This record gives sequence, C-alpha cells and structure tokens, in this order.
Amino acid sequence: MTVGIDKLAFYTPGLALDMVELAKARGDEPDKYTIGIGQSVQSVVPNYEDVVTMGVNAAKKILTAADIEAIEMLIFATESGVDNSKSAAVFAQKLLNLSPYIRTIEMKQACYAGTYGLMQAKDYVRLHPDKKVLVIAADIARYGLKTAGEVTQGAGAIAIVVSADPAIAAIEDDSVYMSQDVPDFWRPVASTTALVDGHLSTDIYKEMFLTLWSRYTAKTKLALADFAGFAFHLPYTKMGKKALDQILDQATPEQQKFLQEQLAASQVYNRQVGNLYTGSVYLALLSLLQQGQIIAGQRLAVFSYGSGAEAELFSLKIQENFQSAIVGQDVVTMLADRRLLSVSEYEDVFNSQLFDYQVDATTAGPKNTDRCQFVGWQNGHRR
Ligand code: HMG
Repeated sequence: MTVGIDKLAFYTPGLALDMVELAKARGDEPDKYTIGIGQSVQSVVPNYEDVVTMGVNAAKKILTAADIEAIEMLIFATESGVDNSKSAAVFAQKLLNLSPYIRTIEMKQACYAGTYGLMQAKDYVRLHPDKKVLVIAADIARYGLKTAGEVTQGAGAIAIVVSADPAIAAIEDDSVYMSQDVPDFWRPVASTTALVDGHLSTDIYKEMFLTLWSRYTAKTKLALADFAGFAFHLPYTKMGKKALDQILDQATPEQQKFLQEQLAASQVYNRQVGNLYTGSVYLALLSLLQQGQIIAGQRLAVFSYGSGAEAELFSLKIQENFQSAIVGQDVVTMLADRRLLSVSEYEDVFNSQLFDYQVDATTAGPKNTDRCQFVGWQNGHRR
C-alpha cells in the first residue's frame, strides 16, 4: 500500500513588498537581496490575517465533501500560534466544518514541525487506510524592521491531505532525521519577533543536510543519480543552493546541470513569497512539481530543517496522475494579484500587528468576504 500526499495547496495574503524597494530603503545593494540572498518579493500579512485564517484559506482550496468525511485528524504545524493553550487546529476544524469526532493538535519545532505532522499522518493512514489526515503548516516569518533578517521575512500556509493511494506522491519509508540543541534561531514567548544568529543558522543547516545525506545514502544505498530533484526548506532561496552545492560533485556534469535547473524550478514560488517557516519546504515542493521537469515514477528528495535544531531527509515517489492533482493550484495568479506596498505602507502594516485577543469583533468588520479573515473575539469565540 502506498501512503502519501494526495492533495497540496498554498495560500499567501494579498499584500507584498518588492525587495529592490526594501534594499534601497535600507541602504543596501539590491543585488545583495535578489542575487546574494535570492529573494525578489515578500508577502506581507495584514492584521486581519493570521496562521488560522491562512491555514483555512489553503485547506479550502482542496477539501471536498469526501475528504471532510474521511478526515480523522487535523495536525496544525506552526511557530506563530495565536494562543498558548488552544491549538490552531481547533479553530481551523470549526472554520472548515470538519467533524467534531476527530483529533486536533498543534505541533511546534520551528520550521520542521510540518514534516513531523506529515510523518505522523503517514503512519496513521498506514494503520487506518480508509481514513485521511489534514496537515496544515502556516506561519508568519517576522524578524523586525531594519534587521538583517528582514529580507527573509514572508508568510503563508500549506495544506496537505494525506491518504492511501495518493494522487501526487507516495512518502517512502526511508527517512533519516536528527535533533540537537543549537542556539541559531529562537523566539521566547514574550517576543513577537525571532532572535537569530543568521550565519550560524546557515552553517548548521548546511552541516545537518550533509550529515543526513551521508546517513541517507548509507541507509538506502541510493545515490544522487537516483533523484530527479530536491525540495529544500527555503528560508531564502540561496539556502537551497548552498546545501545542494555541497554534494553536487557526486553527480556527472549533465546530472549537475539537471539538478541545478530543478533547484531553480523549486525556488520560483519561495523567491516571490519569502519564508513561511513550516510551509516553506512544501511550497518548494509545489514549485518543483509545477515549474520543474517532473515525470511520474521519479524520486524526489525532501530536506526539512527547523532551527533549534531538527532536520529530516526523505524521498517521495511521484504518482501517475500527479499533474491533474496539482493543476488547480494557480499560484502564479495568486502571487501576481497581490498588491505591492511602498516601504512606508509595509512598515505601517508591520507595526499594526495586534494582540488578537484584544480585538473586539463587535467593532471590527470583515475586510474581504471571499476569504477567511479574523475580525476579533466575541464571548470567547474567534470571529
Ligand atoms: P547578512 O549578514 O545581511 O548578509 O545576512 P551577508 O553579508 O551574509 O550576505 C548575504 C549574501 O549576499 C552573501 O552571499 C553575500 O556575498 C551576498 P553568500 O556568501 O552567503 O553566498 N552579497 C551580494 N551578492 C550580490 N551582489 C551584492 C552583494 N552583497 C552581498 N551587491 C542572512 C543574511 C540570510 C544571514 C540574514 O538575512 C538572516 O539572518 N536571515 C534569517 C536567518 C535565516 O534565514 N537562516 C537560514 C538558515 S536557518 C533556517 O532555515 C530556519 C528558519 O527558517 C527558522 C525556523 O526553523 O523556524 C530561519
């Protein structure tokens, strides 16, 4: 029996900031942002959207009545949660009209938690093949105005339906993973922005990829030539290149060229969105599936990294009808439809982030009714 990704959707808010404009405003060379770091645009989150609304908006793109009937668990991965007690999954369950007779839980380990959720989902469906699991990975990457991390901000959500006989990709039972206590990036509970040692975080990411690649190849006896591409966690797109470059000498020149082209395809969407923490690696996967040269039966590698730090490397087998399963995801249009903000508008939006428990739904109004949006609290309910 194969188990894996049956559906995959992405959502990002409708506001964005051009990285050339940000570079100019910060007195940096635009090429540093667009080439050196590899980001062109970043999504900006208005204060009426958060991880719950983004996750729900992603899931709504793919859920059918049959999915809703079969879903027995909702795993919500995030490091930008809206409540320290209630899971974002409980709010999403209601907004998606899922059955009350399901398990709901929120998971956290920096950007890695989505992959943990995916693996839990795979194991659950293997034991209960007639059931499905919905995994949502949603985040807001927030470093602060005029910080070195500002160019790597972003936001968005991924929703994945995991099932038996998946339409898109089977998750192979070949994972290797590791965890270690590293002070590269963290966010204490009292802080709304991340604390980060950016260069250390880049080094740890590279090291953990290299370690896991060597454990993976030893365990599976697979080699670089067995892969049609990599989906990396992309906090910024150059990160994927830094990781892949470390092992490219294991390939022939033609394979090297092919893998570099596939890497470029996997970076197309992330370059336009920025970091979405837990969802980033699956946005890179969607980008690779839609923009790359992918054929059914091929094997793709997925490298998931979360600061602090935990990482996992595994492979996916692309299924026969994957094209028709992803065709409805018009990411290019969604990205093009965003409204570009000036730097001062972006700064106003950034500073208007609210502690949402203080927002009263009786005085706020919905901004856009065709999307799920947060308008405030009323008698303990999120509206
Ligand atoms: P920085 O110090 O501003 O930049 O920080 P830099 O001086 O290192 O320059 C960046 C690159 O631009 C360099 O290239 C420069 O040479 C190049 P590299 O040597 O790295 O290949 N450059 C230029 N290129 C062309 N034209 C120019 C030019 N000038 C310079 N004129 C940094 C950059 C990414 C570190 C910073 O933005 C940061 O701290 N970001 C946040 C942390 C981060 O994203 N870390 C990634 C790994 S950790 C991770 O992935 C986990 C995470 O997602 C969180 C989680 O798990 O929850 C972050």
